[in-house]
Amino acid sequence: MAEFVGVAKSYGEKEVFRDVNFMIERGDRIALVGVNGAGKSTLIKLLAQTEPLTQGEYRLGHNVDPDYFAQDQYKELNPESRILDDLGEISPRSTQTELRSLLACFLFSADDVFKRIGVLSGGERNRYALLRMLLHPANFLLLDEPTNHLDMRAKDVLLKALTDYNGTVVFVSHDRYFIDKLATRVLEVGDARVEVYPGNYEDYRWRKEGGAAALQKAVTSPAISLPTNGNASGQTAKSEDSAARRLNPIKRKQMEDRVHQLESEINRLEDTITECEAALQNFVSAEETQRVTQELGLRRADLQSRLAEWEELGQALQT
Ligand SMILES: Nc1ncnc2c1ncn2[C@@H]1O[C@H](COP(=O)(O)OP(=O)(O)O)[C@@H](O)[C@H]1O
Ligand SMILES: [Mg+2]
Repeated sequence: MAEFVGVAKSYGEKEVFRDVNFMIERGDRIALVGVNGAGKSTLIKLLAQTEPLTQGEYRLGHNVDPDYFAQDQYKELNPESRILDDLGEISPRSTQTELRSLLACFLFSADDVFKRIGVLSGGERNRYALLRMLLHPANFLLLDEPTNHLDMRAKDVLLKALTDYNGTVVFVSHDRYFIDKLATRVLEVGDARVEVYPGNYEDYRWRKEGGAAALQKAVTSPAISLPTNGNASGQTAKSEDSAARRLNPIKRKQMEDRVHQLESEINRLEDTITECEAALQNFVSAEETQRVTQELGLRRADLQSRLAEWEELGQALQT
């Protein structure tokens, strides 16, 4: 559906990509991962054709219509429009009630919906821009950090919308839960390269932690063949590198300390969650219910991320 062939990208002297090759299939949901400055936003812009290639070729399938959600997407909106009217214009067949409930999912209150876009905060405008895009999705979505400024509830709505969506998505996110739930493949960006990892984010982490290499050692037959996608060569070599990396004793001690710290945090979070759940059984007021629900959402997200870190450390310490 989309393919990069020998793509290079530089901004003047600054080289971001060199000889990048990969293919995106219809229906893929691809997470771009990599450290800050690695080139994730640049890759999204190249795919969106808002930034030119320096070298190579970008082949895009017939009828593929990329839609780009930038980190500062809200700048594209008309500041004079009122939220509800603006949404009504792009979705003329929806009723007011439908639009309002959609807006409520994205945390816009009954009063907010009459506000002009221009008076919203940057975060609110981004949230609104995202909702707007989801009403009319193109068949190739390019999302640069769409979860910024979203709280748990809005994130869940976005996640649901994107998992139900039949088109192709390439997205950048630092939200682990979000990547875990959404990605069908992972592209790792860094060192002027793009590496393709088949499978979801969990598979990716497993490979990074040396899972593939460990498995390969256990199997006496030649390398197990993995369902790769053309240009994925080099990924097993990379996993072997990380497996071979020995933990030094200082690092190990730090990790063990962190594990203990995480365990007590996890215990505390579990207690808080139990308390919130109990509190929700006793209705006090709508406001209180909302507050507790929100708190519960945040604590559950905290718990998720701590459990994931705890698990990851546990695995790393076993090697
Ligand atoms: N318009 C630009 N002009 C010059 N350098 C840029 C430009 N955009 C990004 N860069 C540089 O390219 C590199 C990759 O940036 P970016 O794609 O934004 O990374 P990421 O999104 O992974 O943080 C960084 O070193 C950044 O400073
Ligand atoms: Mg970026």
